[in-house]
Amino acid sequence: MIIPEITIQDAISMPILGFGTWEMGGRQSPDKSEDDKFVRAMQLALENGIRHIDTAAIYGNGHTEELVARAIKTYNREKLLITSKVSGDQLAYHDVINAAHNSLKRLQTAYLDLYLLHWPNPDVPIEETMKAINELLEQGFIKHFGLSNFSAEQTAEVLRLTDAPLITNQLEYNLFTRNNGRITEDVEASIIPFCQSKGISITAWRPVLKGATNPLQQPLINEIAAKHEATRMQIALAWLLNKPLTLAIPKMTSEKHILENIAATAIKLDTNEMDLLDNLA
Ligand SMILES: NC(=O)c1ccc[n+]([C@@H]2O[C@H](COP(=O)([O-])OP(=O)(O)OC[C@H]3O[C@@H](n4cnc5c(N)ncnc54)[C@H](OP(=O)(O)O)[C@@H]3O)[C@@H](O)[C@H]2O)c1
Repeated sequence: MIIPEITIQDAISMPILGFGTWEMGGRQSPDKSEDDKFVRAMQLALENGIRHIDTAAIYGNGHTEELVARAIKTYNREKLLITSKVSGDQLAYHDVINAAHNSLKRLQTAYLDLYLLHWPNPDVPIEETMKAINELLEQGFIKHFGLSNFSAEQTAEVLRLTDAPLITNQLEYNLFTRNNGRITEDVEASIIPFCQSKGISITAWRPVLKGATNPLQQPLINEIAAKHEATRMQIALAWLLNKPLTLAIPKMTSEKHILENIAATAIKLDTNEMDLLDNLA
């Protein structure tokens, strides 16, 4: 299936649905007990039209990136989009450079399509971090850069320090997490309007509520799901995917979830349905 794409900052075309990898291969330390299962899940997603994989240096303390390398080995690298992230505690100049090269090594790739600052760090001058990002961009080790968990003010500060297009701000965002995220508290109130006014996309992390289906058992969601012959979770995901300049990166291991989420990219919600869901939380 072809997943719809959006062009961001006239610089990159990205599919609205990507593949999240948190907890594949461990949390803060490696867990190799289910490697084959996760590699297979990534490959199943790639075989069914996914071409963007989101990972990070801290996932499995690097092991998740190694699993991504295994999964993509036999695919045409140029057709894939690989996002990784440098931890917020590695934002000093030399740490960013080292972290990027270590990610490239683990991913066995010459470049990252998108490199994100995983979270802001008020203890490191952002000028120093952006000097490293600008160099990595110039040298071609990263094609594009973005942010994650940055406030509107912090995003504005970054914009002042580079001429490169800022592609995305990755934020906790789903049907029930709006201005009440664990890290960002003002996503709908402040961050999204600011980012969108600057052409910066929003990448929703935790887009399928970590698989929690109970909060979705509501008459409005049941009604919209029935109308579209969809599951309630597909409607929750479609609500994000129908928003302008918005991408989602659910983590999905089971074949059922992979196929369900890919199918959700074809669900068109009308203005009335979007308004009702907008006002749900
Ligand atoms: N930037 C950041 O700070 C940050 C923070 C957290 C996450 N992330 C990124 O965002 C990605 C997604 O977030 P997340 O993994 O925390 O949460 P999530 O994607 O909302 O939830 C993943 C869970 O939902 C289940 N699931 C997937 N599709 C489903 C469906 N259609 N119906 C029911 N359950 C479904 C998965 O099950 P199965 O795996 O069993 O299929 C898994 O247990 C991460 O993997 C990571 O790449 C970024």
